[in-house]
Amino acid sequence: MGSGAAEEEGEPLIQSASSTDSTARRSRAALVRILIRVCVCCCCCGGGGGIAALVAARAARTSQPCSRRAFAFATLLTHRVGAKGASPCYRAAVAILLRSWLATRSRYPFLLLHTADLDAGMRALVDERPGAVVPIRTEQIEQPGASEGDLGAMATKLNLWTLGGAGGYEQIAYFDGDHVFLSNADAIFEACGCGQPFCGVWDPRMPEHRFLRTFGEPSSGNHTRRLVNAGTLVIQPDVSLASSLRQRWASRAEFMSEDLDMVATGSDQTFFNHMMGEHFRTVDQGFNLMHVGRSALAAPDGSRFVRFLHANGTAFDPATPTVVHLKAWTRGRARLEQAVHGALRARFIQPDPYVSELVRDPQCDPDRARPRNSHGARGNAQRRRLRAG
Ligand SMILES: *[C@@H]1O[C@H](CO)[C@@H](O)[C@H](O)[C@H]1NC(C)=O
Ligand SMILES: *[C@@H]1O[C@H](CO)[C@@H](O)[C@H](O)[C@H]1NC(C)=O
Repeated sequence: MGSGAAEEEGEPLIQSASSTDSTARRSRAALVRILIRVCVCCCCCGGGGGIAALVAARAARTSQPCSRRAFAFATLLTHRVGAKGASPCYRAAVAILLRSWLATRSRYPFLLLHTADLDAGMRALVDERPGAVVPIRTEQIEQPGASEGDLGAMATKLNLWTLGGAGGYEQIAYFDGDHVFLSNADAIFEACGCGQPFCGVWDPRMPEHRFLRTFGEPSSGNHTRRLVNAGTLVIQPDVSLASSLRQRWASRAEFMSEDLDMVATGSDQTFFNHMMGEHFRTVDQGFNLMHVGRSALAAPDGSRFVRFLHANGTAFDPATPTVVHLKAWTRGRARLEQAVHGALRARFIQPDPYVSELVRDPQCDPDRARPRNSHGARGNAQRRRLRAG
């Protein structure tokens, strides 16, 4: 699960989408380059297959992009690093996410990728509307040294790339467990655009960072930009990319030398931003709300979020995709944020015995300090340990 909401003020209200043809062309070119590298490896390593066939297969797919409209939402439910099951707060978050998403009557399925067993409460959500929530058992990806808890297994997201190919999904909108859908967000697939390798929303908390323009290609040069919040990502699954991305993750310390915190905790945010290079598109912040400045959203008198939300936690315009990124059992900080959290607790926690029981766990104590993310104290401690040893 990503960390909580941002407090920064003065963020631009709307991020312009870099939706030019040349961006799309560059994105396709970048993917073909990555694909060719993968193919070369297949051939040299005796995997066979042939470059021409793979490139042709991609060309055939992209000539009728997303004609099947095989789109899906997705989230992860991993077990805690060093434990057997998923933590109570993580299960509560995913249950709220699924419950809120079911209410939006999406026309696409929601893939629940899980490495932890599903308990009875989670099963009931899966069974609520047959075919809506699709459980997929997947393999947990951790690294030695990854932090314990929920964040250390976030690289399991890389398994999303295995869900493409013939009969697979053409585009997947992934959300970390700590999101709540306040309206139908099916438009995210149009907003992102078919064939786009990545789409996301800026994370205002993160400092600018230097990235290669094209992942894995040092000759493409560097560029400096903000980070996309890895809690919401639209990706194009590609079976042939899945294993090479996994290898990259395993060797991330080699090209993320400036990111020792992240390398130590195993948190995925910077890694995904490296992968994205400059080949991505931003979608409206309504798809990942709260990592935004409050003042940009609130009316001058502070009474409501003008663009997306009412203080009672409902979407300002039900026709506008509105997904908030928060943990409803926490109190929130700013006044409006507290009002929204309270309203969401009343809607999604109090009436639900399963979720109510889960958030009674001391780890979900609303006053408990938020676990530090990769830029926090724990990361620093691990960095010192790594340097020392
Ligand atoms: C890109 O940045 C890395 C360090 O982050 C540096 O080693 C490399 O020389 C830079 N590449 C170019 C083309 O400037
Ligand atoms: C939330 O607040 C808005 C604005 O005051 C109101 O129109 C709407 O009916 C409220 N919804 C709920 C469920 O209370």
